[in-house]
Amino acid sequence: MPTPAYVIDEMISAKSIAARVEALAREIQQAFKDTDKLIVIGLLRGSFVFIADLVRELDLPVEVDFLETSSYGEGMESSREVRILKDLRGEIEGRDILVVEDIVDTGHTLHHVLNLLASRKPRRMEVCALLDKPSRREVDVKATWTGFEIPDEFVVGYGIDYAQRDRNLDHIGAVRFIDEDGATPA
Ligand code: IMP
Ligand code: MG
Repeated sequence: MPTPAYVIDEMISAKSIAARVEALAREIQQAFKDTDKLIVIGLLRGSFVFIADLVRELDLPVEVDFLETSSYGEGMESSREVRILKDLRGEIEGRDILVVEDIVDTGHTLHHVLNLLASRKPRRMEVCALLDKPSRREVDVKATWTGFEIPDEFVVGYGIDYAQRDRNLDHIGAVRFIDEDGATPA
């Protein structure tokens, strides 16, 4: 099925994101100031831009690892069933870990991932999410640090996609569907 036509309305500028990432990194650095090593775990694929910017602001001994879960596929609806597509390469038992997520929406993905990672007994586990849509929550889960709370809109950019597109945008924008005349359908 072809992706319907849409435009992207800027919601968060590249400049605002950069400032917020810097502030988040300062808080994370402070919280983990005594760590021997922080394992920063990016949830693929949406967090790849965020984690790249975030780790470069962290003046800490850091390792980077990735975990991939099943996603929305081509659509906009959460499947609620979360599967691990690619597991971590490294062990996390007894380690300090920071899970980095792009968006917490219904919360099912994060809930599932945190249960899985907690079962491997890290010493300390915290979460940094770039975006949070609290109005969409179905399971009670919250990131330790959140970049921005946003309304219930489907967003793209800064690593986040719609049907694998628009990950390369330097800002975050809301998807707005249009008909052939470029008008917003009722
Ligand atoms: P949850 O399991 O419903 O919390 O969904 C979390 C995942 O859904 C996020 O990691 C995103 O990959 C994806 N997602 C949620 N909202 C959006 C959005 O507005 N745009 C693109 N992907 C989204
Ligand atoms: Mg995701």
